[in-house]
Amino acid sequence: MEKILVIDFGGQYNQLVARRVRECNVYCEIYSYKTPLDKIKAMEPKGIILTGGPSSCYEENAATCSKELFELGIPVLGLCYGAQLMSHVLGGKVERASQREYGKTEVDLDISSPLFKGVMQHTVCWMSHFDYISKLAPGFKSVAWTANTPVAAMECTEKNLYGIQFHPEVLHTPEGSKMLYNFVRNICGCSGSWRMDSFVENSIKEIREKVGNGRVLLALSGGVDSSVAAGILSKAIGKQLTCVFVDHGLLRKNEGDDVEKIFGPDGNFDLNFIRVNAQDRYFEKLAGVTEPERKRKIIGEEFINIFEEEAKKIGAVDFLAQGTIYPDVVESGLGGESAVIKSHHNVGGLPEHVDFKEIIEPLRNLFKDEVRQAGLELGIPEKLVFRQPFPGPGLGVRIVGEVNADKVRIVQDADAIYREEVDKAAWDCYKKDGDWPTWKPDQYFAALSNMRSVGVMGDERTYDYAIVLRAVRTVDFMTAEAANIPWDTLQTVMSRIVNEVRGVNRVLFDISSKPPGTIELE
Ligand code: XMP
Repeated sequence: MEKILVIDFGGQYNQLVARRVRECNVYCEIYSYKTPLDKIKAMEPKGIILTGGPSSCYEENAATCSKELFELGIPVLGLCYGAQLMSHVLGGKVERASQREYGKTEVDLDISSPLFKGVMQHTVCWMSHFDYISKLAPGFKSVAWTANTPVAAMECTEKNLYGIQFHPEVLHTPEGSKMLYNFVRNICGCSGSWRMDSFVENSIKEIREKVGNGRVLLALSGGVDSSVAAGILSKAIGKQLTCVFVDHGLLRKNEGDDVEKIFGPDGNFDLNFIRVNAQDRYFEKLAGVTEPERKRKIIGEEFINIFEEEAKKIGAVDFLAQGTIYPDVVESGLGGESAVIKSHHNVGGLPEHVDFKEIIEPLRNLFKDEVRQAGLELGIPEKLVFRQPFPGPGLGVRIVGEVNADKVRIVQDADAIYREEVDKAAWDCYKKDGDWPTWKPDQYFAALSNMRSVGVMGDERTYDYAIVLRAVRTVDFMTAEAANIPWDTLQTVMSRIVNEVRGVNRVLFDISSKPPGTIELE
């Protein structure tokens, strides 16, 4: 399969570079800059992209690459730090500028460059750099300029080497996708045959070969990743797959039944489905526990316990399947150069006492939106495929303080009303304007504050809970800001919640950004 390698120098947009390449229907993978040249050669990439990164290439111990990388006869595109490094290694000069160039910047392009085919001569780009290329390496010429940067892009067409000082991968560079398309499709000559339907087909074939007559066990959470993994495995090996769905009672309203409808005996997939209704067990374990980390730990550990109990009943299996996706791999420090942000596991870690020989991860090479696409290809309903992120510990981290059945009922009912009204308001805007409103949140849910306060209802004094409505806009869920939900929608939500949900007399809207708040309450 034709492939582009993204060589990671530790910049913040590196996964985005890989996403953009795949949007050109070209498969690509991210590797650390420390990857040996022999390994890179052996993968026979059609092209190489060097990413941005935090170092200064002229400093000692800066992240670097060998000169030979540019002599393989494979087209190379350096982005930001990658462009500076290319210059530095090939005999140009990189220096610190007197001022950082940051943000949206007007740029003029030499549109005779193959990199800028079909791009406007004068456009906008996203800059973020201190260092700049002050002298080009021999054989290179500058093909883009800004007011402060004489080399905003460069090329050496004979050797198929290109560098861009700005970030074509971010949306703030409106024509950036075209530039990356020009590189991977025209300069590298990739045919663009990477498609989701062929990915699904190939995966099914590969899984069949790998699994043979073996048995596979999967912990199905009802989230997008494990559901799509279940879908692919089911198509590949049918009843050789057993899915264990632990309903911890901390799911959103009706979600447990929805999962059963899709994957259970009356659903659309051929597999063995085991649902464990463990609500009572969880409520018992969580009784009296108020400390957030302790709650998370209990929920995770109990999940593993139950899963292991079920696995024991099933007996030895050959494979344990996981819904790991590509960002999990990269963030675990396995793919690229990013720091270890989290070790990937779905809920509480890998079970130690399940008897299996090997792990199987059918989605290991896919980004989230590709997983969703694969889900649609497999016939998983849109409602599940486009589900917003939901934490493993579920409503346990949306109920401040002790968790009990009554609080779960309150937050489930309030959350269902809130999501219904927000979805309706967003959809109304879409029908009217032909586009989603700018306030459409990326994650929105109701949570239960542990605060009870005095209210009045029907001439009677009440002393009930306050519901907290959360709605955030975010790209990466690492930072977020409160979404500007229309006031009349909030009014409707408030009025429905206090009328329809017993035990609530107050509704608060959380306007905190992250930081300092987190998205979840605990
Ligand atoms: P926070 O609250 O950390 O949330 O700002 C960031 C994103 O991560 C989700 N989240 C979790 N997901 N297990 C998960 O699978 C967890 O324990 C967990 N905690 C938070 C949260 O919903 C948000 O999208």
